[in-house]
Amino acid sequence: MRITFITRDSEKVEVTASPGDRLLEVAQAAGMPLEGTCEGQLACSTCHVIVGREWFAKLPEAIEDEEDMLDLAADVQATSRLSCQIVLTEELDGLIVSIPSGSVDVQGF
Ligand code: FES
Repeated sequence: MRITFITRDSEKVEVTASPGDRLLEVAQAAGMPLEGTCEGQLACSTCHVIVGREWFAKLPEAIEDEEDMLDLAADVQATSRLSCQIVLTEELDGLIVSIPSGSVDVQGF
C-alpha cells in the first residue's frame, strides 16, 4: 500500500507500507521529523500529523486522550491526528498526510 507524506516544504514523499503498520513508524522510516517521544503512550504530541480531508473520515475516531493531547499540539487543524494512534488498514491505501509546520518537540528547547 502507498502512503504519501507532504513535508513542511510541500514536497511529496511517497512510501510503501503494510496493513498493520503504525503511521508514526512509517513516517519515521520515511525520514519525517516526528519524534514520537512517548512511543505511542498518548503522553506527547510530537507525532501530530494533518490527515488529508478525504482520508480523515476513514480513520477510526480519536479517543478522548488523543483529543486532549491534540489540544496541546502546535498548528492543530480540523483533520489533525496523532500518528501513533493510526494503524494502517487496506482501506487506507493512498493515504495522504501532511507534517505540520509546528511539530517541534517542546522538550527539545
Ligand atoms: Fe506520543 Fe504519539 S508518540 S502521543
